[in-house]
Formats: sequence, C-alpha cells, structure tokens
Amino acid sequence: MCGIVGYVGREQAAPILLDGLEHLEYRGYDSAGVAVLGPTRGLQMKKAKGRLKVLSAMVDGGRTMEGCLGIGHTRWATHGQPNDVNSHPHLSQDERIAVVHNGIIENYVEIKEFLISQGIRFQSETDTEVVAQLLGFYYKETGDLMGSVYRVLHRIEGAYALGILCADVPDAFVAARKDAPLLLGYGEGCSFVASDVTAIIKHTRDVSYMEDGEVAVVRADGIRVFNAMGQPIEKEHSFIDWDVSAAEKGGYPHFMFKEILEQPEAVRKTVSPRLRNGEICFEELSLTDEQIRAYKRLFIVACGSSYHVGMVGKYNLERLLRIPVDVMLASEFRYADPLVDQDTLVIVISQSGETLDTMAALRQARALGGRILSIVNVVGSSIAREADDVLYTWAGPEIAVATTKAYSTQLVLLDMLGLYFARIRGSVTEEESERILEGLRALPEMMERVLQEKEEIQYLASRYFNHDSVFYIGRNLDYALGLESSLKLKEISYIHSEAYASGELKHGTISLIEPGTLVVALGTYTPLFEKTLSNIVEVQARGADVVALTTESRRDDMRKTVPNVLTVPDTHVILEPSLGIIPMQLFAYYVALQRGCDIDKPRNLAKSVTVE
Ligand code: F6R
Repeated sequence: MCGIVGYVGREQAAPILLDGLEHLEYRGYDSAGVAVLGPTRGLQMKKAKGRLKVLSAMVDGGRTMEGCLGIGHTRWATHGQPNDVNSHPHLSQDERIAVVHNGIIENYVEIKEFLISQGIRFQSETDTEVVAQLLGFYYKETGDLMGSVYRVLHRIEGAYALGILCADVPDAFVAARKDAPLLLGYGEGCSFVASDVTAIIKHTRDVSYMEDGEVAVVRADGIRVFNAMGQPIEKEHSFIDWDVSAAEKGGYPHFMFKEILEQPEAVRKTVSPRLRNGEICFEELSLTDEQIRAYKRLFIVACGSSYHVGMVGKYNLERLLRIPVDVMLASEFRYADPLVDQDTLVIVISQSGETLDTMAALRQARALGGRILSIVNVVGSSIAREADDVLYTWAGPEIAVATTKAYSTQLVLLDMLGLYFARIRGSVTEEESERILEGLRALPEMMERVLQEKEEIQYLASRYFNHDSVFYIGRNLDYALGLESSLKLKEISYIHSEAYASGELKHGTISLIEPGTLVVALGTYTPLFEKTLSNIVEVQARGADVVALTTESRRDDMRKTVPNVLTVPDTHVILEPSLGIIPMQLFAYYVALQRGCDIDKPRNLAKSVTVE
C-alpha cells in the first residue's frame, strides 16, 4: 500500500528519497513521485506511473533535482486510476505547496466542491489533491503555514499520514498523522519521516512513532512535535534493532522463497525464549491467572492470512480450553455489532500491526468492554501500541507481499497461548500438555525436514502449473490449512482456487469437479484420515487429478488411493498445520515461478492494508 518517505539534511534529497522508496516497494504500489525544495530551483516535482525505476530514470537517479529537503511517495491507487497525474505529490494551485498522503480523505467530494466554487482548478481524480488545494487556499489567505495545516486537519475526515512541503519554508517539512502509520527518524545532522522503518533504517535506528492528531515540523537539526491542540510535546524514542540484511534478498531469487526457508529459525526465535524449564512463560503478558480463568469466551479477529491463523486457532483453542472461540474477519466484526463484553478476551492478529480494518475492530472491541491481546510482528506498530497486551512474533521483517514466516510464527504463538491458558485453567491434562510442549520444541527441526522435500514439490508444480482452477479440501484443521494454502496459490499465481471443507463439497461445489480438475487433498488431521480418503475417492470418481498431503505414518495408506503424495513428519495433531503449510507455500511459489508471475509483488496487492 502507499508509502511515504521524507528527508531533510546536508545531502541532496532526491537520491535518498528514491532509495527510501525502493525499500517501500514491497508494500505494493502502482506509481511513484518525489518533490524536492532547493535554493536555486525552488519546488521541483516529478512523478510517474509504473515501477520506481521509471521515475528514477526520469531524474537520473535523483541527480537532476536540486535541494536537501524533500518528500517522496509510492501510490497504491484508491481514488482515480494509476496514472502520472493521480500519482503523488499533489500541488496547490499556486504550486507553492506539495503534499504526499497515505490513507483516504472520506469527505473529499464536499471539500472539492467548495474549492471549485472558490475558483480552484483540480488536476487529478484523487482525494489527496483536496489536501494540497485546501492547504494552499488557507495559506494564501493567512500566510501562516502551521495555522493552515491545523485548519485543514480539522476539516478533513478519514485516515491520513501526510508529508507537506512549502516553497516558502526552505529548511523544514511538516508531517501529520491520523489512523495511518508514520514515524520520525533522528539522524546525524538530518531527519526523516517514513511510513515504514525499512525506508530509513540504513540512515538511522533512532525513531519515534507519531500518534493520531500529532503534527511534526521536521528540520535537519531536530524535529518538533505538537499535539492536536498545537501544544509542543516530547516524544519517546525507540531503537530499531533489526538486522538490516534481513530486509535484503541476500542472493535468493525472491523474498518469498527466502522467507519460506527462514521459517524454522523464525519459529525457533518465537518459541524458544518462551519455553523455560518445561513451562511456557509469557512475561510480557499483564493478564493475571485469575483473569485468564474468568474468561467465558474468546474472539479472534484478523484479516487474510492472519484470519486463517485464527481459523486454526478456533479448532485448537476450543479443544484446549473448552470455551467458545469465535473467529471473525476484522472487516465484518467492526460492523457486526459483535457480542463482546468484559467477560470476553479479543485476540487480534496482525503481521504489520497497521491493517486498518483490524485496528478498527480492536477499537470497536475495546468500546464494547472487551480486553485486547494482540499478536503482532512489527514492533511499535499501531495495533501493538493500542492493545492491552502484545505478544510479538519474532519473524523479522517480512518483505514478500504474500506472508509465509509471519503466518507460521503467528500460528505457533497462538498454539502456545492456548496451551498456556489451558494449563492455568486446568483444562488440559499433564500428559497432553507434555506432548504438545515436546512438539513445540521439535517443531523448527521438523520444519527443516519438510523444507528438504523442495524438489518433489517443484516437480509437482511443474506438472500442474497450467491448471485454471484448483480446489483444496480437508476436514477440521486441514480445512483451516486449506484456506491459507488456497490463498497462497491464488494471490501469487493468479490461478482461481477455493478451499472447501471436504464434507461440504457434495452440497454444491462438487458440480465443478470435472476430468482434469486439480484437487489438493489435505490429510494431515489423522483423526479424520479415513473420512478424507472417502472424499478423495469421490472427486477421483469425477475425474479429478489429486495431489495429497498427509503425515509420514499415513503415507502408505494414502498411496493406495493417490499416486502423488507429499508428507510431513508426525507431530502432535494441533501442530500439524505448522508443518503442512510449508509444502503448500512451496507449491504456490513454484507454480507462480513456472507461470512467470511477479512473486514478491503480486498485482493489485499491498503488504500493509491501511485503507478500508
Ligand atoms: C496474504 C497476506 C494478507 C495479510 C492480511 C492481513 O499473504 O499477507 O492476507 O495476512 O492483509 O495483514 P496483517 O497481518 O498485516 O494485518
């Protein structure tokens, strides 16, 4: 989704901005632009549809732009097509003010009508241009930039992270935030603003996160931050301790492939520090044992793959805790009048910690009296900061748009949380608990074993990559696993695919099975293995080609029915999805590779979905 970077310092801004934008490419975008302010040439702006390299070529890597102060943007179209004109920055009519924006201005139509009635002519179809034009309009009236910024912020509704450059202010730019991430970076003789830390991490690790309503004036020698009332405030600084190389491709053909291979290590980092002397320790949790025993109901709320983690969680947590666990898409939850009260714990799952729907659901749950526990990957992100408790997944930066290692770490952390609660509530036997703990300890090594089967998966992908339609079927945990497997395939290979609970097929969908349809049958949930076999036979009878996934102990049984069988090691049944997902991710990856798709940046998708 859209990305922002701003720089002010002693060096030429444009090359730094372009480099920052390059590190935001992974978020998904369709056009890019920069505006730079220089002592000789004043406010200069360049923007272009398409990949960043198009823009970079236009400005010779930034060398044709002059000035040590500037803002840059990658746009993911919402209002108006992806084209040069709709790209950011947008200018005020007198071209004295340039604005970049992430988010959506909901009342832009009404403001646009007002401005047109005042003689302002609009260039683009975007909601963002109203910010630039309204700011220019107020500024022309008063000549007071900060006063005009506050007037604009009071008038616009919606979500925004803004970067603002004014031709009359040669040493500073302004940043503002509401419901869209923005952070400030403090360098040696230079300062930054960015929507995502990856854009500036090579320049500084000293950052602070802007809160809703805050406005910052960013200068080379320091940043002043003001609250919504215009009063100066002190910001707490955070140190980013990421390994920069984790956000680099490091010789791998794709980030997605690298991140698939990183899963054993990511899971090890997430699990090991929390397993001590045979106990699960969540030192970061402020929930008391008494509170954990008192909850009568759990909600899991998330989007996309994080929601699929919740689907696995529903089966596993209900099994372990024997209380109802509702899983809801955040975009549905927020408008569904959900049954949340003070006896409900709401578990919010988000890799980025910035997904707008998930954030809105969190606030909705809090307003209803629920307590919020978040599972988040990006440290310091909005969801992490707003939740009552946060458990971090230690997956490291995930760059490929399609999630892999973040999904796996969320999954294992939710399983651990379920077991932790179950031990406190006394709803799991000592023996069962021991078996799960043993499985958790062995998981990274088992994942490594699964990764060694890459070639076989690649072979199967080469046989089936040109199918138009794929079905994933499974029961119970395999159904939840199928949802994520199917999403992986469709998002990166653009093949239509669906996940179905095997038992549900005959209630309608089986009509779509015809000779040659590919069905991926998931049979890792061994308690229902025989039922899954029956469903496989049903689709085979209608001519489907079947690829099956099961555990090593059931390989021979599966082979009697299906020639193409992939396996994962046997572990405790609740942990099987953590192993089963790996061959499915690899299958999607190799299929997309064969089809020549843009694997790390699939069309129309964004890494962090900060619009509704
Ligand atoms: C799919 C994928 C998305 C995200 C979803 C939620 O591969 O990555 O479906 O899972 O957009 O994002 P987060 O977890 O950042 O809230």
